Amino acid sequence: MDMIVTQGLCKTFKSKGKDKGTGKDAGVEAVRDVDLRVREGEIYGFLGPNGAGKTTTMRMLTTLMAPTRGTATVVGHDLFRESRRIRQDIGYVSQKGGAYEYASGYENLVLQGRLYGLTRAEARDKADRIVLQFDMADYARRIVQTYSGGQRRHVDLGMGVMHDPKLLFLDEPTTGLDPHSRARFWDVIRTLRREGITIFLTTHYLDEADQLCDALCIMDHGRVVAAGSPEELKREVSGDVVEIGLDPANVAQAAGLLEGMGGVCSLETTENSVKLLVESGETVLPAALPRLVQAGIAVARVEMKRPTLDEVFQKVTGRALTEAEIEAAAGGGGAGSGAGSGGGGWT
Ligand SMILES: Nc1ncnc2c1ncn2[C@@H]1O[C@H](COP(=O)(O)OP(=O)(O)OP(=O)(O)O)[C@@H](O)[C@H]1O
Ligand SMILES: [Mg+2]
Repeated sequence: MDMIVTQGLCKTFKSKGKDKGTGKDAGVEAVRDVDLRVREGEIYGFLGPNGAGKTTTMRMLTTLMAPTRGTATVVGHDLFRESRRIRQDIGYVSQKGGAYEYASGYENLVLQGRLYGLTRAEARDKADRIVLQFDMADYARRIVQTYSGGQRRHVDLGMGVMHDPKLLFLDEPTTGLDPHSRARFWDVIRTLRREGITIFLTTHYLDEADQLCDALCIMDHGRVVAAGSPEELKREVSGDVVEIGLDPANVAQAAGLLEGMGGVCSLETTENSVKLLVESGETVLPAALPRLVQAGIAVARVEMKRPTLDEVFQKVTGRALTEAEIEAAAGGGGAGSGAGSGGGGWT
């Protein structure tokens, strides 16, 4: 089953002022014609710079905000008519998180379970399991106010799954965490996926999307500008670069043999290698290597490189994510507008 399907999803925020030029309401088109498809069991990454419309999209899909136009189903329920059923089936961890500072992590988990209708015994039982599973035993009984950023994110995540949702929304779950904490957090997310929870997360980190996500889409200025698996997106940008290391005496002959082969987009030589830009290394290499061997040319080494997701992002949005943008997002308060305010309501 598809866990999220949207068609033409739009959100326009009305503004109080008028556009000086046209005299019309100068609203913000935060989300424009977004078509998404998230399959059951995947970790789906929603990427884009500050203000791209990620949080707005997530708040619509979690029923916290009404779309201006479009259609959507979430966990098979219609977004407009079955919001109550959607809320039972999803968990949402907002950009700011929602743990109560003056209670312990454990108490926050139990309270969250109680809010979702679990009995005291059920809530304690589930909280105990989460503490073990998320490796929170060292700090779960201390008040949240004393926690590190990574520990807080674990509590937020735990609160999001107390009621065993089928689909979990995480808005920038790892922003501001150091690389070690991020890697630990990824492990927990992967564990949840193994248990059958579909995960929809936003991120600014391209490496995170690459390593963690099965599928992703890149959003910019409210529109989806690219979608697919990390591999597909990378291939879409420029194919593979294949470098074949050779004895310098054979370089010219090898270049002659490989030039114009099917799937080879361009070729250049160095002193001791031939570099090919190919549509797909996996199909070109098995044809190219026998050609050289049959001509008696020894191959010293073969290297294949994929473009990075940074390159994909740069190509589809026309610019790179700057460190400043990533820092701004980490600051929390400056991260878009309306991003967290209502999010704590039922994280
Ligand atoms: N309540 C609101 N009223 C007016 N404009 C809004 C409102 N909420 C969001 N916006 C605008 O909509 C656009 C998208 O914002 P959104 O918070 O969805 O971006 P985002 O992709 O989550 O960004 P970030 O990475 O900074 O969190 C921005 O231009 C933002 O200023
Ligand atoms: Mg946001």
